[in-house]
Amino acid sequence: MESMIQFDNVTKQYPGSPTPAVNSLTIAVPEGETCVVIGPSGCGKTTAMKMVNRLIEPTSGAIFVGGRNILKQNVIELRRSIGYVIQQIGLFPHFTIRENIALVPEMLGWSQARRLRRADELLDVVGLDPAQFRDRYPRQLSGGQRQRVGVARALAADPPVMLMDEPFGAIDPITRDRLQNEFLRLQKQLRKTIMFVTHDIDEALKMGTLICILQVGGDLQQIDSPKTILSQPANSFVADFVGSDRGLKKLTLVRVSETMQTNPTVGSYDEPTADLVVRMRQHEMDSVFIVDDQHKLVGYVALEAAQAHSGRAADVLSPVIATTEEEATMRDAFSAMLSYGIRFLPVLNSHQQLTGLVSADDAQGLIRQSHPAALAR
Ligand SMILES: Nc1ncnc2c1ncn2[C@@H]1O[C@H](COP(=O)(O)OP(=O)(O)OP(=O)(O)O)[C@@H](O)[C@H]1O
Ligand SMILES: [Mg+2]
Repeated sequence: MESMIQFDNVTKQYPGSPTPAVNSLTIAVPEGETCVVIGPSGCGKTTAMKMVNRLIEPTSGAIFVGGRNILKQNVIELRRSIGYVIQQIGLFPHFTIRENIALVPEMLGWSQARRLRRADELLDVVGLDPAQFRDRYPRQLSGGQRQRVGVARALAADPPVMLMDEPFGAIDPITRDRLQNEFLRLQKQLRKTIMFVTHDIDEALKMGTLICILQVGGDLQQIDSPKTILSQPANSFVADFVGSDRGLKKLTLVRVSETMQTNPTVGSYDEPTADLVVRMRQHEMDSVFIVDDQHKLVGYVALEAAQAHSGRAADVLSPVIATTEEEATMRDAFSAMLSYGIRFLPVLNSHQQLTGLVSADDAQGLIRQSHPAALAR
C-alpha cells in the first residue's frame, strides 16, 4: 500500500455557495508522513480534513484511508481508526481526565483495567504525571495541559491516522513551541500518518514532512516537502505565502558570522560524561560539541549517550555530520540544516576551530523579519 490517505478529485460544494470549499483536490499522504494543510482563512482546510473522518461528505470524488474507500466503510468503524484533535479540544467537562482519555477504548469494549492502564500510559506519553492529573476535571487544567489531554485522547486506541485541526492554535507561544517539540519527538516513535491544519507557516515548516498549500476556493497550489516549498515554490501565491521570495533572498544576504551565537558551550575530549550531562542540563541542550585543546571540533556527545555511559566524552563521541563556515550565507546554512534534518550547525573558521553556532530558528527568524505580512492571518 502506497499512501495512507488519498484524495482523488475531491470536491465539496456547500449548498448555496458560489464557489466550492474544496475543489477537485487530489493529494496522497504516504504512511508515517505529516501533511500540513495551510492557506488563508476560508480556503477549505477544515472542510478537507473533516471529509477524512466523514464529519463532512464530499460532493464528488473519492477518499481512501489505508487503501479503503471511506464512503463504503462503516462511519463508526472509520472514526475509531482515526484520532481527531481540534483546537477547542472538546473534552467532556463532567468526565475526569482519565475518563476523557478512556472514552474510545470504552466504546471499543476494552476491559476497565486495560482502559485505566492505557489512560495512565498516555498521560505519561504526553508529559502529565498520571498520579497528579488522572482524577482531575478539565477545568482544573491549564490550556496547554488540556491540549496534551486532547492529544492523549486521540492516541488512546492507537489509530494509524491522526487529524489535527490547529491543535496548538490557542496556546501561548512558549508552551506551543514545547508542545510542538514534544509532538515531534512522539511522532518519531509513533509514526502516525497525520493531516495537520495550521495557518502559521513556521509551524507548517516545523511540523510537516509534506506541506499542502490551498488557495481560497479550495484550489491546491502545491504539495511538496518543506524544503521544496521553500526552494521551488510552484507559483507566486506560494512564494508570497511562504515568504520564500523575499525571505530566502534576505537569508542570502546575511552571513553566518553576522548571526551566529559565538562561544557556544562545549566539552573537552577527556571530560567525564557526568560533567557533560550537568552542563547540557544547565543550558537545556540535548547535545554538546566536543573540541580538542586547540579548540578544533572533534565531534559531539548526545545527552542520552552521556547519561547512559559513565566514562569520558571520548567514549561516547559521535561524528558531526555537517558544518558551516563564517563566510557562508544563512541560506547555505539553512538549506544544509534542512537537508540533514538538524536544527543547529557548528560554525568553523579556516583553522577548523569551532567559533559559533547557528540555528534553524535564527534562519526562520530572519525570514519572518523580512516578511511579516505572510504571517498575518
Ligand atoms: N457548513 C457550511 N455551509 C456553508 N459553507 C460553509 C460551511 N462550512 C464552511 N463553509 C465555507 O467553506 C469555505 C471553507 O471553510 P473551511 O472551514 O473549510 O475553511 P478553513 O480553511 O478551515 O478556514 P479557517 O482558517 O478560518 O479555519 C468557507 O468559505 C466557509 O465559509
Ligand atoms: Mg478551519
